Amino acid sequence: MVALSGASGYELGLKTFRLLPQSIEKYLIVSENARIVAEKEHAIFSDDEIWAPPASGSFQIDAMIVVPCSMNTLAKIATGIADNLTTRAAAVMIKERKTLLLAPRELPLSPIALEHMYKLSMLGVIIAPPVMAYYSDHDSLEAMERFVVGKWFDLLGIEHDLYKRWQ
Ligand SMILES: Cc1cc2nc3c(=O)[nH]c(=O)nc-3n(C[C@H](O)[C@H](O)[C@H](O)COP(=O)(O)O)c2cc1C
Repeated sequence: MVALSGASGYELGLKTFRLLPQSIEKYLIVSENARIVAEKEHAIFSDDEIWAPPASGSFQIDAMIVVPCSMNTLAKIATGIADNLTTRAAAVMIKERKTLLLAPRELPLSPIALEHMYKLSMLGVIIAPPVMAYYSDHDSLEAMERFVVGKWFDLLGIEHDLYKRWQ
């Protein structure tokens, strides 16, 4: 499951969703602030559909990635606020001890955001911001994006050939 919140970089979230292997059952959550940029047709849940299946632990989602993850959504997840489908689904992932990956996008990071990330990391949530790499053939934005998405897939145990590995 992929969730898009209202930080800049929604293309990266959509790309992550699109690059998931066909074999995976895919779900996409788009926050109210990100909805305007996600008009494509996919299995899209709106963030206000709090009754949608991912809001329940019984739906058994294996893994969830929030990309991009705004500082607002990060703060809510870190403090247990579940006022929309994204934050509720994230709360479910934490309580069900399932894989949750957050890709915070902000520069610079405030002490508050860092505190939230530390707390979540200690709870087992994977904090993996989109960080550039320079050791491969990343001569375009497209290649850099493929590298970052590939790293996220690595963390989620999803096979891919999105970037050339360091030899
Ligand atoms: C053009 C634009 C870019 C933004 N970029 C970021 C960002 O990179 N990181 C961030 O944390 N918030 C960013 N924001 C602010 C969030 O959209 C705002 O905090 C919003 O309340 C987040 O809502 P959500 O977490 O429910 O999606 C941006 C807002 C706008 C209008």
